[in-house]
Amino acid sequence: MALKNKKILIIIGGGISAYKSLDLIRLLKKNDAEVKTILTRSGKEFVTPLSITALTKNKTFEDIFDINTESEIDHIALSRWSDIIIVLPTTANFMTKLSIGKAEDLATTVLLASNKDILLVPAMNVRMWLHKATQNNLKILQDYGYRFVGPEKGEMACGEYGDGKMSSPRQILSYLKKYFNQKDLVKSKNLKALVTTGPTKEYIDPVRYISNESSGKQGFEIALALNRLGVKTKLISGPSKLVPPKEIKIVNIVSALEMMNEVKKSLPVDIAVCAAAVSDFKPRVKKKNKIKKNSFNDILKLEKNPDILDYLSKTNKMRPKIVVGFSAETENTISNSILKLKEKYCDLIVSNDVSSKNSGFNSEYNKVSIIDKKGKIKSISKNKKSYIADKIAKIILDKILINDKNIN
Ligand code: C5P
Repeated sequence: MALKNKKILIIIGGGISAYKSLDLIRLLKKNDAEVKTILTRSGKEFVTPLSITALTKNKTFEDIFDINTESEIDHIALSRWSDIIIVLPTTANFMTKLSIGKAEDLATTVLLASNKDILLVPAMNVRMWLHKATQNNLKILQDYGYRFVGPEKGEMACGEYGDGKMSSPRQILSYLKKYFNQKDLVKSKNLKALVTTGPTKEYIDPVRYISNESSGKQGFEIALALNRLGVKTKLISGPSKLVPPKEIKIVNIVSALEMMNEVKKSLPVDIAVCAAAVSDFKPRVKKKNKIKKNSFNDILKLEKNPDILDYLSKTNKMRPKIVVGFSAETENTISNSILKLKEKYCDLIVSNDVSSKNSGFNSEYNKVSIIDKKGKIKSISKNKKSYIADKIAKIILDKILINDKNIN
């Protein structure tokens, strides 16, 4: 009974497939979900508030400027009430509005103010779907964290054939069942994660240090993605210029030793993701005062830093169920990463191809392959770090829940 008592808010968009919303509501009610709806102005051209209310047994909300309803519900309350919001059908025009953050009516205002997962169900002509503008909007919306079901291939209302057909109510129902099953399972397991990110700085004197190239962005995004999936996540971050995510507990550290201490304090956890670019070496001594140029006549003596990933993988007492390492490679990316996975006993390794200038370090983008112990490889072509983080987080959860079926 994945949907029992789940609160589902459906925004009915304008499009010929809007009539299918009635079928979806019927299926959801049969599965004991609670349903509320917002009918957009253009949606009203295809379905009536009366037929919706007859099925939901709830009032159909219409426009933000309807003074009677607005005072009663307010756009924040509707979003807070829901467990998930579905936009059906999501037209090309609606995708554009969401991609620029419009808040011009009740539907768009609720979505902009939402703190819940939002599922978009696109339906449009194949040319509209494949148009670069729509595909760009798709990327933006995926980056914002919107989820998508469909569109499917098929014959459209206009008679043309291709991608753009709306997923059927049964397909949407099956997505929702998987979504809530996974959420409930994660919640019942009370999963905890730690994510290391950013560089570490190893000071030579008060102003000079040894460090690695790293923005911390990929780790921030992984922590957010795990958090969105219901995992209680702690982020241990080296110095980063980025604004840290507010949703996550974050501990700032500077050196590898501090990172190691914080990691030890955070155990036990179920999941450890080591995305930090930890400095392999540190100066043997840190000088108290700035070293004068003319007094510096010695060779800088270095010693090895502890390997945090290695420690986490090999610790017998409190080894996390899943330990994920990162490897930044410029050549033989996969084979070098497999070697690292074996050396460091991790369960998954995220192999970063940092050979290209516009992905990897200090970039919004990344290109990775995720490799497991059995040698199974999932390659993700160049995409936003947030998108890649979502994929990594879902693979981790699938592994931990021993559920080989990914939700989109
Ligand atoms: O051996 P290498 O530094 O290439 O391995 C990279 C992986 O090991 C990353 O996951 C990184 O976070 C982790 N690491 C660590 N502690 C170190 C060095 C690397 O956790 N001292």
